[in-house]
Amino acid sequence: MSHESVVPGELGDPAAYAAEVPEPGAVTIVVPTFNESANIRELLHQITESVPSRLPCEVVFVDDSTDDTPEVIHKAAQDCPFPVTVLHREEPVGGLGGAVVEGMKAAGSDWIVVMDGDCQHPPSLVPELVATGERANAGLVVASRYIKGGSRAGLAGSYRVAVSRVATWLTKSLFPRRLHGISDPMSGFFAIRRSAVTADVLQPLGYKILLELAVRSRPRGVTEVPFVFQDRFAGESKSTAQEGMRFLRHLVGLRTASPLARMIVFGLIGLTGFVPNLAGLWALTAAGMHYLPAEILANQLGVAWNFLLIEKLLFRERRQFRHWADRTARFALLANADLLVRIPLIALLVATFGMGALPATALALVITFVLRFVGTEALVYLPRRPGRHGKRSRTARSTT
Ligand code: GDD
Ligand code: MN
Repeated sequence: MSHESVVPGELGDPAAYAAEVPEPGAVTIVVPTFNESANIRELLHQITESVPSRLPCEVVFVDDSTDDTPEVIHKAAQDCPFPVTVLHREEPVGGLGGAVVEGMKAAGSDWIVVMDGDCQHPPSLVPELVATGERANAGLVVASRYIKGGSRAGLAGSYRVAVSRVATWLTKSLFPRRLHGISDPMSGFFAIRRSAVTADVLQPLGYKILLELAVRSRPRGVTEVPFVFQDRFAGESKSTAQEGMRFLRHLVGLRTASPLARMIVFGLIGLTGFVPNLAGLWALTAAGMHYLPAEILANQLGVAWNFLLIEKLLFRERRQFRHWADRTARFALLANADLLVRIPLIALLVATFGMGALPATALALVITFVLRFVGTEALVYLPRRPGRHGKRSRTARSTT
């Protein structure tokens, strides 16, 4: 990462600014940019017009551009009465969210405001966000499109509006407590106290950095200010369908931080496996196969389906500990062992503990499910322990 201070200097003389904030503070405005050269001059102009006279500020751009955005910032910054910094990243780790966290780490003020670089977020609101946070003694102030006085005027097209609405609803229902009091968890415009940012626990992934902060940093005291989402000044949105998939992965990652939640998702994925399993059984028997071999084959279809979903969603970040063939073999072994263990277990429960067949089956289902989850975590997706290398390589050979 190259770190350039374009306009070095102090944060201005606080005495020179009208006190909109009860206690004299300052703000670091963090702007993530990806090929926004046509917007920079206008954005810095709008910030110059509306922020420094009310609140001392500095601007930190975190740039992943492949165009000349950094040079444009360089030039435009020379006319700015506040320090402007560009952090250009060679690798866009974590995308927009990763960029924002880098900017937050570089921030020098008590308050950080995050805003887009395309003028969709009005800079005139920056001092108000901070002042509201100070007045309410809040750790986080969200600029919301969904409270009285706000609007999503600039959200282009009914498709984007619908997607945004569904995403907001889904996210709020997944985190009812953490997002209590946040009507617009998808907003990319907010103020947060630097002391509330716990950068070491953050795992930003794509666009929804506010969601990441609200769920993992859990700032104390959250309040909102309405805002009107403007039209883009120039250029086009950088959001793609791929970004949508990244958002879903982000949601799953946030929601499955605890083992219990992971087990529930593991179970839900397992339930969806019934669909390919039954469809396979139907197709194979319809093609004339005897139902017993068809059962066994169709079960493999369900196993493969579950494995794919678990790999893509649940344990995506934990795939690197083993080769994919090793993981596939281990997962398939565990899933099939599940079937083999269940029948003897039911027999044991009935014969030795005198249980009825139905409760014994239910209990055996629960036991083998938990065992399968624990086994999958421990044997397929946990880092290999150092010091048992000899044993491990034998295992690896025997499965290939
Ligand atoms: N550094 C960096 N890296 N910046 C990025 C990247 C990236 O990978 N991707 C996008 N950006 C920057 C853009 O250059 C822009 O300044 C800002 O992030 C927002 O990107 P847009 O592409 O303009 O996003 P949008 O308008 O579709 O979405 C905005 O509004 C949504 C609400 O509807 C964002 O604020 C979203 O976070 C928000 O949910
Ligand atoms: Mn935008």
